Amino acid sequence: MKFFIDTANLDEIRQAKDFGLIDGVTTNPTLLSREQKDWRKQMQLVCQEVDGPVSLEVIGTTADEMLKEAKELVKYGPNVVVKIPMLMEGMKAVRKLSEMGIKTNVTVCFSPVQALLAAKAGAAYISPFIGRLDHLAQRGMDLVEEIVTIYRNYDFQTEVLVASIRHPLHVAEAALIGADVATIPYKVLFELAKHPMTDLGIESFLSDWKKSFGE
Ligand code: E4P
Repeated sequence: MKFFIDTANLDEIRQAKDFGLIDGVTTNPTLLSREQKDWRKQMQLVCQEVDGPVSLEVIGTTADEMLKEAKELVKYGPNVVVKIPMLMEGMKAVRKLSEMGIKTNVTVCFSPVQALLAAKAGAAYISPFIGRLDHLAQRGMDLVEEIVTIYRNYDFQTEVLVASIRHPLHVAEAALIGADVATIPYKVLFELAKHPMTDLGIESFLSDWKKSFGE
């Protein structure tokens, strides 16, 4: 399973990269709005920081607008994946971009048929937003399971990129289902290593060593 980090913050990306934890980055307009005002510069810096795929999202809502923006976004680096919202106009843009050899990530996906459309249009990634579904008392992970089944049934090459992750259990469940990628917020990425029994185990090993052999 690939791990992407869901952030537009350079410090977070650098730290996750230092731990060898990330294979790529996803950004969105909200994440970029939290960083410096010059979003173009920020997009460029993020793309330079990682070797793996970096999703950069379009703002337009018509296919023509999305295609125009996509052509600008890909200039930020060879690793750019253009993030396209789940709209019929978006599917038109995805088809055209895929014909041009430009990778796309279809975002804000909340249903299995939306994911089917994205795959048929030629998207490289589909992003089901599971945390947001959980908040509405709908099981986000059921959606991931349905998409994985549909893609396997028809051998679609579109990768399932689990998004809107809120905690380590989401990562574990996505991995059990066999999702291709989890895009994980910085805080959750570091929570993955935590377990109180691990802390206790390490503590007792170190204290036994100290008792017998000193420092
Ligand atoms: C995915 O690419 C999105 O950036 C992200 O996961 C959105 O999720 P959230 O805003 O619900 O956290």
